[in-house]
Amino acid sequence: MPTSQPPSILNFLYGTAWKEERTPALVELALRTGFRGIDTANQRRHYFEEGVGQGLAAAYRAGVVTRDDLFLQTKFTYRPGQDHRLPYDPAASFSVQVAQSMASSLEHLGTDHVDSYVLHGPSSGYGWTDADAEVWEAMTKERDAGRTRLLGVSNISLRHLEQMAAVHSEAPAFVQNRCYARLGWDRDVRLFCRERKIIYQGFSLLTANVEVLRHPVVASLAARAKVTPAQLVFVFARALGMLPLTGTSNSEHMKQDLASASLALSPDEVRAIESLVG
Ligand SMILES: NC(=O)c1ccc[n+]([C@@H]2O[C@H](COP(=O)([O-])OP(=O)(O)OC[C@H]3O[C@@H](n4cnc5c(N)ncnc54)[C@H](OP(=O)(O)O)[C@@H]3O)[C@@H](O)[C@H]2O)c1
Repeated sequence: MPTSQPPSILNFLYGTAWKEERTPALVELALRTGFRGIDTANQRRHYFEEGVGQGLAAAYRAGVVTRDDLFLQTKFTYRPGQDHRLPYDPAASFSVQVAQSMASSLEHLGTDHVDSYVLHGPSSGYGWTDADAEVWEAMTKERDAGRTRLLGVSNISLRHLEQMAAVHSEAPAFVQNRCYARLGWDRDVRLFCRERKIIYQGFSLLTANVEVLRHPVVASLAARAKVTPAQLVFVFARALGMLPLTGTSNSEHMKQDLASASLALSPDEVRAIESLVG
């Protein structure tokens, strides 16, 4: 039976966006390298979810992992975030769209449940809408039916989270956001999450923070720890309480990214990086 807690061994999510026909091979390689958490979305515009399923199947066949070893996360994406390749009937109600998108995800991924189901982004940048409320209720029904263990929201502001908390009794288990150093590494949202034991998943930790990666302080801390600046950013993200994502397509980077999970920074080093920008 699904449980309500994420596995404690989960220290990295392998992201599958923008990989197109390389998706199956890269997912299999990520699993062979040691990743156990996979992030995808039923949004063909940016993700090839069926290809993720093909990569999983190849890894199962080769005896690399079993389904039970894995944490699989996918997302429901509203119509404006999609192209013409929709996983649901756009004329149907939002509740039906969620059910259809989930059924399609389970088929793509070759499983009867995912571990986390995430609202890819709220319907409006300004606040939590009635459409979001309907989608969230439909997602909780999917969870209650056993098709996902946990629920999450993505691309979300503190304002959305506060409004969501005022409307729904249940908080998400995950928040997944792009994490900019210049915004204090999404400080407000991270603090909201910490207070409610919501796990914060950070993406674009490298691509959104090039100024940090190039900073001399980071270069010297990385040299002292005998790691790369990219690894240092992942160690730092974990020190702030994040579950980081990486979407690397490079096998050496996969190993380096995973190795960062066994490294630690002193509180002074964390403060030094935190104070560079934002
Ligand atoms: N919820 C959302 O709306 C949303 C939006 C964007 C992304 N995501 C998720 O987050 C995942 C990750 O996306 P991302 O935006 O963080 O970017 P990304 O696709 O992971 O890109 C990371 C970049 O960093 C490089 N990199 C990774 N590890 C490195 C290392 N050890 N040393 C040097 N370079 C390294 C990669 O290059 P190499 O390939 O050469 O290593 C790549 O250019 C996506 O695949 C997706 O699953 C979610």
